[in-house]
Amino acid sequence: MAHFPEKGDRAAWRVSVLTLFPEMFPGPLGVSLVGQALEAGLWSLAAIPLREFGVGRHRAVDDTPAGGGAGMVMRADVLAAAVDHVRQGEPDAPLIYLSPRGEPLTQALAAELAAGPGVMLLAGRFEGVDERVIAGRQMREVSIGDYVLSGGELAAMVLIDACVRLLPGVLGASDSLGEESFEDGLLEYPQYTKPREWEGRAIPEVLLSGDHKKVAEWRRSEAERITAERRPDLLKRR
Ligand code: ADE
Repeated sequence: MAHFPEKGDRAAWRVSVLTLFPEMFPGPLGVSLVGQALEAGLWSLAAIPLREFGVGRHRAVDDTPAGGGAGMVMRADVLAAAVDHVRQGEPDAPLIYLSPRGEPLTQALAAELAAGPGVMLLAGRFEGVDERVIAGRQMREVSIGDYVLSGGELAAMVLIDACVRLLPGVLGASDSLGEESFEDGLLEYPQYTKPREWEGRAIPEVLLSGDHKKVAEWRRSEAERITAERRPDLLKRR
């Protein structure tokens, strides 16, 4: 029997999210597969309220951009205080700032992070973060795609979800991991289930043949066809 960590066990994959909106968590991460894994203690989540590290009577976390311009910038001293506080209990987790400027989140990066002790995530708001704290606390910047969200929280949730489902014991049928999209750099082949015919569309004959080798070959060639049609960039990268 594999050993899976108990609730509160230091071995569980540990997530801390530094955010102005801790009430957004766990949100969608509290339901379904990932939520059950949280409940079972396979991973743990701490949402750290950045406001508590703010300065002055109003606990300000942001200020106007040096050099002028619109919007507000999150202060380096406030963010460093929050990061250093969390670091005391979390010495090893990589520190990631979610930002459209970052390296792309890929299946390979999710697997790399899932294999580590956990992650410390900074979810930004406003126009951005003082550059000095990114350098001063050696943050890794990660983007979930080429579009701009109103804050990093949803991006943090996407990253967490992609990692947690890779943790040992989270997916019941471990088979479904090996064959899915991106595990071998291809998009997924088409799936079918009953009824055998629906609105005049039949399930491809080969899938009903019982010939496992033929089925595997068909799925492979369909995956390659769909990838070539929709994401030729993925084929080039393989
Ligand atoms: N914050 C705002 N937009 C983002 C994106 N595309 N990826 C990661 N973090 C973000």
